[in-house]
Amino acid sequence: MIRLLAISGSPRRGGNTDLLLEQVFNGARSKGAVVNKLIASELKIASCNGCNSCMKTGNCVIKDEMQDVYPLLLDADYLVVASPVYFSGVSAQLKSLIDRCQAIWARKYILKIPLRGNSHAGKLTNLGIRPKGFFISVAGSHSGSKVFSGALSTIKAFFHTLEVDYAGDLLCYGIDGAGAITRHPDLLEQAFKIGMSACVPPCTAGAAGRHSQTDQEDCISGRR
Ligand SMILES: Cc1cc2nc3c(=O)[nH]c(=O)nc-3n(C[C@H](O)[C@H](O)[C@H](O)COP(=O)(O)O)c2cc1C
Repeated sequence: MIRLLAISGSPRRGGNTDLLLEQVFNGARSKGAVVNKLIASELKIASCNGCNSCMKTGNCVIKDEMQDVYPLLLDADYLVVASPVYFSGVSAQLKSLIDRCQAIWARKYILKIPLRGNSHAGKLTNLGIRPKGFFISVAGSHSGSKVFSGALSTIKAFFHTLEVDYAGDLLCYGIDGAGAITRHPDLLEQAFKIGMSACVPPCTAGAAGRHSQTDQEDCISGRR
């Protein structure tokens, strides 16, 4: 069964990011995926202190709740990361979580340790598929999708480090007040479809299966 991990970067509970992720969950559950949600602001995750110990060991010396997050990141078949735009980037809470993945970066690039324990150079999940990642973001600005460029760079680097294939995004601008997203049922519907597409093994799957035509369309419609 597909395991979906969603990470919310918004500290505003019940806000726009939360409402979109809820739809992702509803979509994933409607197809029987196992879903797990992390709220970055509710986890005790210190900022990376740049000590570079991970370059020698592949592990982070800071023993906080990030230690529980590492295996979840690497076990997920499908990762959905969601964040409001804060000063042209992702939220500080999410950025701390991402920065702490320097330990994973060190394992991969310095120590050459496969990230996942299987025979395909650690690139496949336990289901034998390449993990996929989606990015969902909201921004108050009405000035178009360029407001997401900083956040997108960070998320793409994050997925690249985790060896998660970037599958698409849902970028919602002009969404500011808490709950403003409810005035955009089309966007909530797209979030639902992202969730639904998660329960089908990714297009790159080998023995584990393929998308049906309908599921491929669902997957593509999540892009904006
Ligand atoms: C600290 C802070 C910084 C923000 N920076 C930006 C920004 O740079 N660009 C923008 O368009 N919106 C910015 N916003 C607005 C949020 O992106 C917007 O309100 C969003 O809908 C919040 O999502 P949420 O309800 O999921 O928390 C900022 C909001 C806060 C609180």
